[in-house]
Amino acid sequence: MSGPNTNYDPVEVSALDPENIAAAVEQAHAAIAAAATLDDLKSVRIAHQGEKSPLALANREIGALPPSAKAEAGKRVGQARGMVGAALAARQAELEAERDERILVEERVDVTLPVVRRPFGARHPIELVSQRLVDAFVGMGWEVAEGPELESEWLNFDALNLGPDHPARQMQDTFFLDPVDSGLVLRTHTSPVQIRTMLRQEPPIYIVAPGKVYRTDDLDATHTPVFHQIECLAVDKGLTMAHLRGAIDAFVKIMFGEGTRTRVRASYFPFTEPSMETDFVCFACHGTGSDDAGAQCRSCGGSGWIELGGSGMVNRKVLRACGIDPDVYSGFAFGLGIERALMLRHGVRGMHEMVEGDVRFSRQFGMEV
Ligand code: PHE
Repeated sequence: MSGPNTNYDPVEVSALDPENIAAAVEQAHAAIAAAATLDDLKSVRIAHQGEKSPLALANREIGALPPSAKAEAGKRVGQARGMVGAALAARQAELEAERDERILVEERVDVTLPVVRRPFGARHPIELVSQRLVDAFVGMGWEVAEGPELESEWLNFDALNLGPDHPARQMQDTFFLDPVDSGLVLRTHTSPVQIRTMLRQEPPIYIVAPGKVYRTDDLDATHTPVFHQIECLAVDKGLTMAHLRGAIDAFVKIMFGEGTRTRVRASYFPFTEPSMETDFVCFACHGTGSDDAGAQCRSCGGSGWIELGGSGMVNRKVLRACGIDPDVYSGFAFGLGIERALMLRHGVRGMHEMVEGDVRFSRQFGMEV
């Protein structure tokens, strides 16, 4: 930049030449008018208002003028810069308004258009209750065991002390597989998982086995040919019926809630000896057998109790068939059908609702995932 110079004629400094300043303003105006976008305008601003613009250079030259010339030059440059600044601001406002209008059109959302609804599914109550029971037993140190639905006849029956001529073999209506001598059935209960586990594993054994089972029943209000059972087996030294009852009580509490009383009745299963049937107190009449109006309770048929499932101490013959010495170890097992228990618990009127897979049915049981 030039230093102060008393003989300095501002008109000779080309940057301050009025014509040059007018030309700079004119060029700026032309460029501003030609800027079609906000980005264009940004470059125009740098070129005509930035540090290296002709008017900024002119402004800097003012400092070098003699005091007498400063005021006039300052006024001229100041006015010029003011005009360019105002023109830039005006064009900026115009372009912003244009942009906003364009966005409103381009990004317009038609709120009246139909939306794609993807409703959440819901897990089936059978799945929910199985998981809850399995989780609780796993929490107590038990293991989950599974077996195939297509099972060998030997594991489904013979190993469980249900020989070919055993009358109890007819207690369960079995789907046999073609050819008849294939030796395969659709498992009629989860009890073959007991055998599979005992053959594979040394005691102590504590397992919970949930799964699908099949029987040749037609689908009606209380039956379904495919249903779910959950079964527990424990084999250890010194297990007694007291342990069995304790395990059943823990199970029932998880399934039906704290304070659900149970009782056991003598029963018969070839693979347990002694065998019991477990009942839990009717949740509708709380064991009284009659409803509020004094009529017979419809949930339990007036007995005050609802049947849960079978149980017993593992038959010594079954332990021996699995290579476990019944003089050293004892075991207990219990199993039940989940559909039936849930229907009773929740007052589900028919088995159809339970098995048809309508998500509206499942949703009533909560949205746990
Ligand atoms: N498997 C038996 C049934 O399906 C139930 C049961 C399981 C009984 C375990 C005793 C012990 O009916």
